[in-house]
Amino acid sequence: MAGGRPPGFVETPQPCRYHIAMRSTPPREPADPSTVIVSRGQISRRVAELAQEIASDCGPQELTVVAILDGALIFLADLVRRLPMPLVLVTVGVRSYRGRAVTAGPLEVHRGIHTDLAGRRVLIVDDIYDTGATLAAVMERVARHGPNSCRTCVLLRKRRDDEPAGPRPDFVGFDIPDVFVVGYGLDYDGRYRNLPDVVALKRSEEGTS
Ligand code: IMP
Ligand code: MG
Repeated sequence: MAGGRPPGFVETPQPCRYHIAMRSTPPREPADPSTVIVSRGQISRRVAELAQEIASDCGPQELTVVAILDGALIFLADLVRRLPMPLVLVTVGVRSYRGRAVTAGPLEVHRGIHTDLAGRRVLIVDDIYDTGATLAAVMERVARHGPNSCRTCVLLRKRRDDEPAGPRPDFVGFDIPDVFVVGYGLDYDGRYRNLPDVVALKRSEEGTS
């Protein structure tokens, strides 16, 4: 990463080189800089690197990007504009967090894949990998089409103690602590997607549903 290590950045020998350590100060306001888990600068540099990693792995042939909306929207927009190969964009609508809950509810695919992916080289893109259930469900739907290949990319992956529900993503932007985050497309009860940094949700904002 150019420009030295930002505060709170700890490099570990984990599969993802970008490992964000939990800050010692507790989160306050969502827009308060002390809650920043991944800054806009870190995101921008890493998205450029991820695009290079994807380009060298996937090659110059046409790629079909299957984006999991709504959360992947902002990441997707930045990532695809850095991918050099010809590209077809497909979206799938999945919901797993309902209203004011911060733990996963049942998965609902409210908009399926309406493009034929047979023989295509597919890259699934999501904002965050938590239990892995969302990615596993979308991979299963993509696999039904008989693609030529299927890779997966997430901006964030939470460090959890339990085993993930599905295969690990091929490309990961940052490993982050197991806290509920918003911003850069990620929401809480539909809010905060427009924040340019990924920040921890302050406890008083959390509710249950
Ligand atoms: P998983 O299915 O448990 O891996 O959860 C992944 C999905 O849950 C993502 O597509 C997000 O939409 C949502 N999600 C998981 N963790 C967070 C979070 O901390 N903030 C906002 N959304 C989250
Ligand atoms: Mg999502």
